[in-house]
Amino acid sequence: MPMNKVSNDSLEKIASEVIGCPLCKLSRSRKNAVPGDGQLSSKIMFIGEAPGKNEDEQGKPFVGAAGMILNQALEKAGIKRAEVFITNVVKCRPPNNRLPENDERSICRQYLDRQISLIAPKIICILGSTAYSSILGGKSIIKNRGKIMEKNGQKYFLTIHPAAAIYNKNLRSVLNNDLFLLSKEIKKMEYDKRTSLLDYIADETKL
Ligand code: URA
Repeated sequence: MPMNKVSNDSLEKIASEVIGCPLCKLSRSRKNAVPGDGQLSSKIMFIGEAPGKNEDEQGKPFVGAAGMILNQALEKAGIKRAEVFITNVVKCRPPNNRLPENDERSICRQYLDRQISLIAPKIICILGSTAYSSILGGKSIIKNRGKIMEKNGQKYFLTIHPAAAIYNKNLRSVLNNDLFLLSKEIKKMEYDKRTSLLDYIADETKL
């Protein structure tokens, strides 16, 4: 598995630290920590809130009802789940699925930051308001969903949390449409990269 050249960090190292993490009170109630799932080479990273009951049981992100909604939206948008990295703001389930508290978010943040810096995704898809407020300091995901933002040179795409669409068909179409926009954005980014490379080659060969 490739290692980060500068720090010797790796996704496996982060995962094993997360699995044994004793740093906040969520470690005392969890069954399994949920480090995240996906490839180092992922161009897109999805960040949700926190593991729920199914995730806590299986140690994998988005494997319950919200995960099924996310999978369907990914499939409709032509994005392969195996080609993206999926994780959460906090890696352990908060009791009764309450919101993760500020101390839990900030203690867990180092794992997320290390995952982001290793993967260096072209774009991070923020799922819902906990990820939006924790990562970008935003307030209303519903007002800002479908938008692209840039912070410290990293691109972000904002959308609703799939759990919000479990009982709401309208929100399901919102999520589907947003992920379709995200897939178009990725294609555009790849096209822009190709055309600028072709322009560069054309310029160089004129010399
Ligand atoms: N909700 C989340 O935010 N993350 C999961 O992994 C599952 C449900």
